[in-house]
Amino acid sequence: MRLDPGFKSIKKKIVCYQLRFRNDFDMSKTVNPSKRFAAYPRLNPLGIGENISAADLIDQTFLAYNGGRLREAAHLLTEKMLPKDGFIGLSLTGALTPAGLGKSCLIPLMKAGFVDWIVSTGANLYHDIHYGLDMKLYAGSPFLNDVDLHRDGVIRIYDILFDYNVLLDTDAFVREVIGGPEFQRPMGTDEFHYLLGKYVAERGKKLRLKDSSILATGYECGIPIFTSSPGDSSIGMNVAAMALRDSKLLFDVNRDVNQTAAIVYEAKSSGHKSSVFILGGGSPKNFMLQTEPQIQEVMGIPEKGHDYFLQCTDARPDTGGLSGATPAEAVSWGKVDPDSLPDCVVAYVDSTISLPLLTAYCLSRVKPRKLKRLYDRRDETLDRVKAKYLKTGTVTKIKTSRKIAKRASSVGLNKT
Ligand SMILES: NC(=O)c1ccc[n+]([C@@H]2O[C@H](COP(=O)([O-])OP(=O)(O)OC[C@H]3O[C@@H](n4cnc5c(N)ncnc54)[C@H](O)[C@@H]3O)[C@@H](O)[C@H]2O)c1
Repeated sequence: MRLDPGFKSIKKKIVCYQLRFRNDFDMSKTVNPSKRFAAYPRLNPLGIGENISAADLIDQTFLAYNGGRLREAAHLLTEKMLPKDGFIGLSLTGALTPAGLGKSCLIPLMKAGFVDWIVSTGANLYHDIHYGLDMKLYAGSPFLNDVDLHRDGVIRIYDILFDYNVLLDTDAFVREVIGGPEFQRPMGTDEFHYLLGKYVAERGKKLRLKDSSILATGYECGIPIFTSSPGDSSIGMNVAAMALRDSKLLFDVNRDVNQTAAIVYEAKSSGHKSSVFILGGGSPKNFMLQTEPQIQEVMGIPEKGHDYFLQCTDARPDTGGLSGATPAEAVSWGKVDPDSLPDCVVAYVDSTISLPLLTAYCLSRVKPRKLKRLYDRRDETLDRVKAKYLKTGTVTKIKTSRKIAKRASSVGLNKT
């Protein structure tokens, strides 16, 4: 009897399945299961005990999916990023400081020497000032009537509530401070935040506050704090309004771009690892990552990319936006070292959950590190990268060690 071809292939599949099924029970013919899974720990958690610490909870029960990624993030931070005095850049987006995460997490991390430089949205720094000046924010609800809130002078950030006067008083504080003589010139945002932080710290002392503001802590610990879009927040709005009076304050964004690249060059050229810890995404994520293409592609200094990439976000990669772009995509741009790609972690977790957990994990598993006080060495680090650039860089197209297609060379470069 001739079998039709379709039936033949079905029969073949059944025979194969029978063989495989038999082999599963015939240990002599199968790969030893312990060898097949040798690289993978067994999923077999203990029940959670009464007094479990946050770090043990992560190690013992965050086993799969984004819990698994968060455990990997905790290990990446404590076992690769923090040891050997590695440089850690932290980028902040999303409304983190209004939710109190500055006081609860960021300040302890900064004081423990676990954060060496920061790129933040202006919003996080503006709302940080409320805490630095002891203004009151409240845990409300996302389900309130916003028309009523507006009538009653109440501002809402999702489920956080505060009085409209908090904004007006913070604005007045910023305007009064930046009216002073120290601010009457162009400066990088790291210098601007350092000076502003000094005044927040002074006011905090008068109010008998301790560890209330990341701006004040940045000033005290010499941690440079940059913002990638200085005009895009209430701080920038107040600086702009003062320029309509007689203020000479201008943000030197070129200095910021070069200064952040100088920090990364300082790390790499002194034999340290350079890591990025990204909360959210947005413009601060790019500003932190673009330091590597600035060094390689623009300054022409041979470099391989950041060593470690850790991001906690809700942003998805398939829209093509930078916020959700994966570390693998960053490798193609030279932002991340291809050799370290297997170590990179993206955890799709709300920062209000991931940050307290990672903070507790780091503080309980790693001893505090000596503060690098990169702000104090800002001129020196900038001079170092500048000297290297003037030696290596060109105005015309740079020579790169990366393999690039020949057909792309000189396209569009002819002036005539
Ligand atoms: N009064 C102010 O000064 C003020 C207030 C709000 C926003 N802003 C400005 O608006 C811009 C947008 O700010 P933004 O940071 O809210 O941008 P955003 O909402 O676009 O967030 C940036 C990225 O972070 C992710 N993200 C946000 N919250 C997150 C969370 N809880 N957990 C994980 N990921 C999260 C988002 O998905 C996005 O990818 C900024 O430039 C900011 O300065 C100013």
